Amino acid sequence: MIKAIYPGSFDPITYGHLDIIERGLGVFDHVVVAVAHNIEKRGLFNLEERKALIQEAVRDHSRVTVDSFEGLLVDYVERVGGNVIIRGLRATSDFEYEFHMASINRHLNERFDTFFMMTAKDYFFVSSRTIKEVAMLGGSVKGLVPENVERALKIKFKTLVD
Ligand code: PNS
Repeated sequence: MIKAIYPGSFDPITYGHLDIIERGLGVFDHVVVAVAHNIEKRGLFNLEERKALIQEAVRDHSRVTVDSFEGLLVDYVERVGGNVIIRGLRATSDFEYEFHMASINRHLNERFDTFFMMTAKDYFFVSSRTIKEVAMLGGSVKGLVPENVERALKIKFKTLVD
């Protein structure tokens, strides 16, 4: 059984992420969506909110679990018995960062390889950062994020403004 770990900030999860999860299921037996807990990087959604949003978005997939981790990714992968790391690549601009990350992870623990999947063409321009900006400025993010995320963004920005 091949357990793939899909790590990220997921602040919040987008359809681009969901596409990678679903395609990952076509290749690997189990996908663990692992939300990184980064104390230095305060997000819009807290860790529990991010996990709950992902959980709801993947509720129809029995071979997906949602978890979070602190510290080094490779230590987490080892701890949960993961075999591979998966990441999505949107464009060449992602490549350098991803190449460095995969290389340092291989240096830290050469048992784990990173598998990259090209983001679907429909979500090439989608990132959590731009989604937050568009939503904050009142633009529509329909069709780019799951509906529960769309609702959560509306509530979050209304709460922040009020
Ligand atoms: O969605 P992101 O922000 O691009 O995800 C980056 C993430 C969380 C996968 C990466 O920062 C990470 O693995 N953090 C855990 C700490 C770690 O292992 N660092 C060494 C590799 S850069």
